[in-house]
Amino acid sequence: MGAAIAIATGNRHKVEEINNVLRECGYEVEPVDAPKIEIQSNSLVEIALFAASTAYSLLHRPVMVEDAGLFIEPLNGFPGPYSAYVYKTIGIDGLLRLLSSENNRKAYFKSVIALAYRDGIVVFEAETPGEIAREPRGTQGFGFDPVFIPEGSEKTFAEMSLEEKNMFSHRGKAAKKLCAWLKGHVVK
Ligand code: IMP
Repeated sequence: MGAAIAIATGNRHKVEEINNVLRECGYEVEPVDAPKIEIQSNSLVEIALFAASTAYSLLHRPVMVEDAGLFIEPLNGFPGPYSAYVYKTIGIDGLLRLLSSENNRKAYFKSVIALAYRDGIVVFEAETPGEIAREPRGTQGFGFDPVFIPEGSEKTFAEMSLEEKNMFSHRGKAAKKLCAWLKGHVVK
């Protein structure tokens, strides 16, 4: 088992996806019971920075947060930073209804990982372009996975194993950047 870094999240899928990458560089994330305090902002980076710094000031140990959103081109980037709220309220069916007469299905997922530690906060960002399927497919993963088809694949995220999703996903790519950074730094 690698060195554990705390992560402020209640989402076990995020933990599993990030751990699958971090294990390769000798780390793992350990979900902790610190609140991920989310400010309202149009910027995922601002949201993640604030959440990481508040979690650090409560825990006094290195802690990361991951904030993600789905940005849909024909909806001018909606729901973006409001993706969790949109998922909870109108869900996948509501999103597909918003796009029902739309031929442009282009969208991208963005992930921001912010790691707060003694020397400051580092941020890792990554995006995955793709498109919104006409119908949900697959049973794996979480959130909008059943309707997101990443560029370079025919499958939705929900039709992929965790390892395959990580090869394409915004979160997998951001976690790989974190991994590379961890190799050259000591986090206390
Ligand atoms: P948050 O990062 O926890 O604020 O969540 C953003 C919302 O975006 C989640 O509730 C999901 O609905 C959606 N989301 C973020 N990442 C993914 C993903 O990898 N797959 C599917 N949905 C995601």
